[in-house]
Amino acid sequence: MSAPKILVIPGSLRTGSHNARLAALVTKELALAEADVTRISLADYPLPLYDGDLEAKSGAPPNAVQLKKMMAVHHGVFIVTPEYNASVPPLVKNTIDWISRVRERGEAPLAVFKHRAFALGAASPGGFGGMRSLLALRQVLEIGCGALVIPEQVTVARADQAFDDMDNLKDEHLATSLKTAVRALVDAAQRMG
Ligand SMILES: Cc1cc2nc3c(=O)[nH]c(=O)nc-3n(C[C@H](O)[C@H](O)[C@H](O)COP(=O)(O)O)c2cc1C
Repeated sequence: MSAPKILVIPGSLRTGSHNARLAALVTKELALAEADVTRISLADYPLPLYDGDLEAKSGAPPNAVQLKKMMAVHHGVFIVTPEYNASVPPLVKNTIDWISRVRERGEAPLAVFKHRAFALGAASPGGFGGMRSLLALRQVLEIGCGALVIPEQVTVARADQAFDDMDNLKDEHLATSLKTAVRALVDAAQRMG
């Protein structure tokens, strides 16, 4: 198979986001692993808070349809998310909720989640590195959406001090765990293709 196409989605819009920084590093490592990688910003796909009345009236918003189409042309998706109150931030959950509602005529429910591999990463200035957010996100994707989420993941604790001037991870073990997760996603995505 040719280079697998991998989509990287940072789950924060904040200027100076630690997760955006980690997502940029994930993107670099994916390129080094010879993936064909695309990194987006959810700032380019604003969505209203999910509302069943809005959906009944107008269907899923065009940005949700676009995001689903974007996912559909990739073999793998790497989501890099903050942790809010020990769980997934609303931006990430709302985005997944809307995408889960987009369905082409005759398409099985949640089909776009089922034919590609997902990997997860998180960064936090706290000591858990966003680990609890990833547990919650794994539940949403695997149990809620039927996705394959690879077991390898990366959590960057004390994220405000974790990167060097070149935006690489200072800790060697952490840098290795990121490379391991990236390699595993590329391999899983290749099997999907
Ligand atoms: C509403 C809210 C709740 C938060 N809860 C947690 C938390 O449970 N665990 C944690 O490690 N950090 C928590 N944080 C701190 C975030 O990890 C921190 O703001 C981080 O910088 C956000 O990610 P970003 O830098 O990519 O925007 C919380 C932040 C906000 C705004």
